[in-house]
Amino acid sequence: MLRTHTCGELTAKNAGSSVTLCGWVNTRRDHGGLIFLDVRDRYGLTQVVVHPETEKKVFALAETIRPEWVIQVTGTVSKRLKGSENPKMPTGEIEINVEKLEILSRAKTPPFEIDSTTPVNEELRLQYRYLDLRTAKMQKNIALRSKVFQIIRQYFTEQDCLEIDTPCLIKGTPEGAREYIVPSRVYPGNFFVLPQSPQQLKQLCMVGGLDRYFQIARCFRDEDLRGDRQPEFLQLDFEMSFCEQADVQRIIQGSIEKILKECSSKKLKWGKVETFTWQHVMDTYGSDKPDLRFDLPIVDVSDISKGCGFKVFEEALMLKSGVVRALRVPGGAELSRSEIDTWTALARELRAKGLAYILFKEDGPQSPLLKFFKDGYLEQLQKATGAKTGDALFFGADTVKIVCASLGRIRLEAAKRFSLIDESTHALFWVTEFPMFEENDDGSLTFSHHPFTSPNIDEWKRRKEAPLSVHSICYDLVLDGYELGSGSIRIHDPILQSEVFEMLDISPEDQKKRFGHILEAFSYGAPPHGGFAYGIDRVVMILAGEPNIREVTPFPKDQKAKDLMLGAPAPVPAEQLKELEIQVEEKI
Ligand code: AMO
Ligand code: AMP
Repeated sequence: MLRTHTCGELTAKNAGSSVTLCGWVNTRRDHGGLIFLDVRDRYGLTQVVVHPETEKKVFALAETIRPEWVIQVTGTVSKRLKGSENPKMPTGEIEINVEKLEILSRAKTPPFEIDSTTPVNEELRLQYRYLDLRTAKMQKNIALRSKVFQIIRQYFTEQDCLEIDTPCLIKGTPEGAREYIVPSRVYPGNFFVLPQSPQQLKQLCMVGGLDRYFQIARCFRDEDLRGDRQPEFLQLDFEMSFCEQADVQRIIQGSIEKILKECSSKKLKWGKVETFTWQHVMDTYGSDKPDLRFDLPIVDVSDISKGCGFKVFEEALMLKSGVVRALRVPGGAELSRSEIDTWTALARELRAKGLAYILFKEDGPQSPLLKFFKDGYLEQLQKATGAKTGDALFFGADTVKIVCASLGRIRLEAAKRFSLIDESTHALFWVTEFPMFEENDDGSLTFSHHPFTSPNIDEWKRRKEAPLSVHSICYDLVLDGYELGSGSIRIHDPILQSEVFEMLDISPEDQKKRFGHILEAFSYGAPPHGGFAYGIDRVVMILAGEPNIREVTPFPKDQKAKDLMLGAPAPVPAEQLKELEIQVEEKI
């Protein structure tokens, strides 16, 4: 090795020893003939001193050194003078008196200061990710990510799982997102599809008798990006045979509890992992992944709103699945007009037609709606919601889907605005009893998890008359308002699988073309099986307290799905396209 120690380990105990360190120059300071260099590596910073009495050549070389140059220094560890110690640094008691100095690499002036105290433009950080990775924050986040990988590998191996790698050049597997496709040179006009998840392959492992599987799987989804999404990301993917829902939940929960115990100092809210039904969290919090580090329930006021005098509410109740619901925001009476306008715009983005409100001011309730309310309605609302002086009520009046989405979002805004989130806890819970299907805007059905999820068999009989009332054996895990993962007991009967495809309007020919392999596999003795997958990037993001997964992904794409460092995606040479028999049409 070119070094005897790292830049993070020398203390007063090492005083007097001769050491060699390698690293990047964090800063250079010239002080009355002395040159101080802070040398940095993954492990920390060490102060290095070049005295005027060192060899002339060494001193002259030290004078030329600039930040981010890579150097090797040999010298003696000495205790710093009294008063010049830095208790904030693990190596703050010592410095190295340089005897030998070697420049291993020179560096141009970096486009931003590493570990700058002022925020650096994210585009620049992503373009020069290899420099950004040098910052203490990124080094910490990447180390945390690695620790999570290690815990996962150890845990699932102890659970008798085999780590099985599944291919990335496959056929489409529906998970609800658009797919990335890869053209085949050998079969022009044909394409591989990158996996949105290894869903079908892990199920085929079960048919193959592999019994318990896990993988840290790379998944690809071409979807609208948000803070908690990347076009490629990692899942802890798990599947087991001969199990029931509770068995999968027990194993998955154990892994998350272990990760939290080893990587987080926060306590679990409720002292344990809770379970709620999908219906409960949707009705009470307007979301299937509510942040329950704070309460703020939504209250249904449909019954008391019939004939209430306010047309918007009355008309909403006439819609198919129309409701009127209210959110009480304690302290909300102090919200300004412009804050309410911002929240109204947010609700509109989620297709609400508005955001009716009442502010319970000291001098009485204030709202443009009061003049419409019939006598007694305001009091009924206060009774139902518990609204009192100082509070605000916000209303959603529309289909249940729109009201949940908009009030669920306002609930989050209110928590942020009034600092209601208890940052000292993790709210970790299961959501169970999901509906099997959801309705598209055009009235057609879509799966709510994926089409390989088993329906509740007793309810399956009524699928033709009341498809939306059928539940699936599906379960999500939610942490601090993020969907960590989803799983289900799978279908292992080819007839039931065909029935589900049929409900999704996939014709028998299409079923054969797209899913023939899995239907056939199920006809050769498939074990009952189930599984789960959680987003590892999301877990690390939450543990690191970061606002988005780019901060914990070594080489992320930006918000427009671009790799700014590599400049990808990019055109490929015409030769390559020709080989693939692909023609790119110029957009006029
Ligand atoms: P699902 O589609 O719910 O289930 O995905 C599981 C988890 O993967 C993470 N995730 C993402 N993370 C970052 N960027 C993305 N674009 C992204 N998309 C999903 C989330 C999510 O909860 N095959 C099933 C699992 C199963 O049934 O076993 C599946 O993929 O944390
Ligand atoms: P309007 O009658 O459209 O002027 O709306 C009166 C008030 O009701 C405004 O504060 C709107 O933001 C609000 N509002 C309108 N439609 C809805 C709705 N569907 N749900 C909740 N609030 C609404």
